[in-house]
Amino acid sequence: MEGLCHHYRFLIVTLVLLSGLRQSYSSTTTRQFEFNIEWKKVTRLCHTKPLLTVNGEYPGPTIAVHEGDHVEVKVTNRVAMNTTIHWHGIRQLRSAWADGPAYITQCPIRGGQSYTYNFTVIDQRGTLLWHAHYGWQRASLYGAFIIYPRMPYPFSVPIQSEVPIIFGEWWNGDVDAVENEMMLYGGGPNSSDAYTINGLPGPLYPCSKKDTFIQTVERGKTYLFRIINAALNDELFFAIANHTLTVVEADAVYTKPFTTRAIMVAPGQTTNVLVTANQVPDSSGMFVMAAKPYVTAIFPFDNSTTAGFLKYQSTRTVKIEAPTLPTNLAVHNLPEMKDTVYATTFSKMLRSLASPEYPCNVPKKIDKRIITTVSLNLQDCPANKTCKGFAGKRFFASMNNQSFVRPFKSVLESHYKNLTNVEFSSDFPEKPPTAFDYTGVDPLTGNMNTEFGTKLLVVPYGTNMEIVLQGTSFLNTENHPIHVHGHNFFVVGSGFGNFDVAKDPAKYNLVDPPERNTVPVATGGWAAIRLKADNPGVWFIHCHLEEHTSWGLAMVLVVKNGIGQSQSLLPPPKDLPLC
Ligand code: C2O
Repeated sequence: MEGLCHHYRFLIVTLVLLSGLRQSYSSTTTRQFEFNIEWKKVTRLCHTKPLLTVNGEYPGPTIAVHEGDHVEVKVTNRVAMNTTIHWHGIRQLRSAWADGPAYITQCPIRGGQSYTYNFTVIDQRGTLLWHAHYGWQRASLYGAFIIYPRMPYPFSVPIQSEVPIIFGEWWNGDVDAVENEMMLYGGGPNSSDAYTINGLPGPLYPCSKKDTFIQTVERGKTYLFRIINAALNDELFFAIANHTLTVVEADAVYTKPFTTRAIMVAPGQTTNVLVTANQVPDSSGMFVMAAKPYVTAIFPFDNSTTAGFLKYQSTRTVKIEAPTLPTNLAVHNLPEMKDTVYATTFSKMLRSLASPEYPCNVPKKIDKRIITTVSLNLQDCPANKTCKGFAGKRFFASMNNQSFVRPFKSVLESHYKNLTNVEFSSDFPEKPPTAFDYTGVDPLTGNMNTEFGTKLLVVPYGTNMEIVLQGTSFLNTENHPIHVHGHNFFVVGSGFGNFDVAKDPAKYNLVDPPERNTVPVATGGWAAIRLKADNPGVWFIHCHLEEHTSWGLAMVLVVKNGIGQSQSLLPPPKDLPLC
């Protein structure tokens, strides 16, 4: 029996594979989308305010395509502010022009202008997200980016349906003002007023019972939850009362399946989980699902909880009751807000599937190792300025003590045109300028000033790189979700304290490390990532906590062209916005 089943399944796989191949060889499907950036009045928590939206939708529309598709998104900016859109996690092979970060790969799309993002989804499948990449516009300009696979899912459970779960943050006030104030005085930003599930805060917030996400399920069936953290500044824990989650994918790469009571998902990260409706509900038919922050910061933060429900079908619903108190949510599987042990243990469970169909192509040997601090800074206050950070100074952030400054012209354009009179240089430091006890310094003494500049790290095509991201204890140790544009990477090692080049590499996982686009560097710790720089172009690397990016926790990786067309950046599109 078992053999027969196996044989049968193999047949199906082969047929689908063949038809998949036929499709990809005969013609590429082009999928077109129109994004109009426009204001829309939205009410949450009894506050009505104009929100930046795509096509008036909040959250924005889902983009769903198939592996191999060519995608064209025409973005028309109908507001009086600049904007850009980024397809987070899409590799953009040779199409860096379509990546989106403002002043890195393009100049902003100005009010009244449009730009068509043009790219092909090559050898990627799963759940990603798109979001604005200009200032803090991601606060409301975000949505799911789903890539359906050519081959069947590698897990054999039949899926009843697929459920996107996108977390965001809601501010009652104007988000731009929050960012401006923070940059003007160098203080910590105001925190959001609510977290949301698919744009809905849920019953634990004032005025929000009607704004609650409810997913109906059928008893005995299994659902694929596509979980996306689009929040600006907060890592989140997520769990469903009484139900376990089986993780099968992270950042659009299949993982070895494992079961957990809760996940930690950092801004920019995505996680697919299987949820089986195998519980016996009470008369309400409801089980709480909830997300609340995983907190390592000393800055003010939003400590609230967004909740929604799983509703078992065909049980008669008496009334949707809010769970009594957020503090009671522990009984619903959620870890405590400061549970670093949980967050770390969870991250360590992630492993690449590393199957023949989905191999784990981690570089075994490296050509170059970069060691960089990822740090907060406390800058002396310039004369005649008001500074509202700690001790009359102002906050900044940096990598290798370089606080990244966006240039006025796009780096990619300057790189492509070989412009020499540009505002940047190719000398990003490959190790910390001075070695010190990174995670052991007294957080509040000593010189914590950073340098400002636009220094690039330039590597030849095909370089096998290792980047060690080293947290520091300046001000405070904090978790930093570091995102790399244009490449996936493998998290080969991580730990607390200082990276030890003599000892730690020997402990790396070079067999089945998780492949991701965003890694949470543990608070007071380090992470080592490996990637093959095989995508010519200019790629932003930064902390996906928006406040840290604003403060300069970012750098730019330039991958030069290789040999011939197939290893070279395509020419810029005609409608590329110029500065
Ligand atoms: Cu999702 Cu540079 O960002």
